[in-house]
Amino acid sequence: MNTLATYNIKGGVGKTASAVNLAYLAARDGRRVLLWDLDPQGAASYLLRVRPRVKGGAKALVRGKRPLEEAVKVTEFDGLDLVPADFTYRNLDLVLDESKKSTQRITRLLGTMADDYDLVFLDCAPGISLVSENVVNAAGTLLVPLIPTTLSVRTLEQLGEFVAELDRPPAVIPFFTMVDGRKRLHREVIDDLRTHRDDLATTVIPALSQVEQMAVHRAPLPVFAPRSRVTKRYEELWAEVSSRLGSGRGGRSRAPGRR
Ligand SMILES: Nc1ncnc2c1ncn2[C@@H]1O[C@H](COP(=O)(O)OP(=O)(O)OP(=O)(O)O)[C@@H](O)[C@H]1O
Ligand SMILES: [Mg+2]
Repeated sequence: MNTLATYNIKGGVGKTASAVNLAYLAARDGRRVLLWDLDPQGAASYLLRVRPRVKGGAKALVRGKRPLEEAVKVTEFDGLDLVPADFTYRNLDLVLDESKKSTQRITRLLGTMADDYDLVFLDCAPGISLVSENVVNAAGTLLVPLIPTTLSVRTLEQLGEFVAELDRPPAVIPFFTMVDGRKRLHREVIDDLRTHRDDLATTVIPALSQVEQMAVHRAPLPVFAPRSRVTKRYEELWAEVSSRLGSGRGGRSRAPGRR
């Protein structure tokens, strides 16, 4: 089982849109995919039309009172399952803090699903919290959406420092989103980062209103806009990411006992 997380310290950069589209495309490729929505806003749950209701709340899951398996909901899309988030997830940090090995809790919970899925996508709220620390620990690969501004590139460096402190840092795949090719600054920031980082994805996701319409259609892009330029880019990004998965530390999310 490979675990990927869309992650950025910065908010509103396309983490959820990317998690939903990439998870859908992976499932369309025939993989068994689970997306775990870890954001109390429940945006991924909303986009995939799953009711944001977690029996017993985040607490029961984290404390192991209720197996993760029971929280899984099927989506309308073949091969794509979801663990929805509800508002109880706002307390996730506190609940994690009260548990043993608090930074490895999500890794452990995912270990129970290792035989059921080929890929797990984690989508969490922005910032650095105990939840995001768990996510970074559980992920074999971090997919980092970046808006082409100087400030975003700085946050990528901060993320690099955060990740480098881990015993076994995940592979990082940064990629640009919300790109307007007409803006000189966007082109310059992208070209500049390309010369500095060889892990940057070649594919660039353009800024197009179809992405915002995901919330209207409540579906991944390929479902309602199969010919859109941004859908094509997400397909290319998925091809790029899946070809790099083998080289990452993909198997790390297995529970320690199962390895
Ligand atoms: N490529 C794009 N082009 C245009 N709009 C986009 C694009 N990607 C995302 N958006 C829009 O930008 C907003 C933020 O995107 P999204 O929710 O995916 O970001 P996020 O990083 O998950 O945000 P948060 O930090 O709040 O979780 C949404 O309204 C989304 O529809
Ligand atoms: Mg989000």
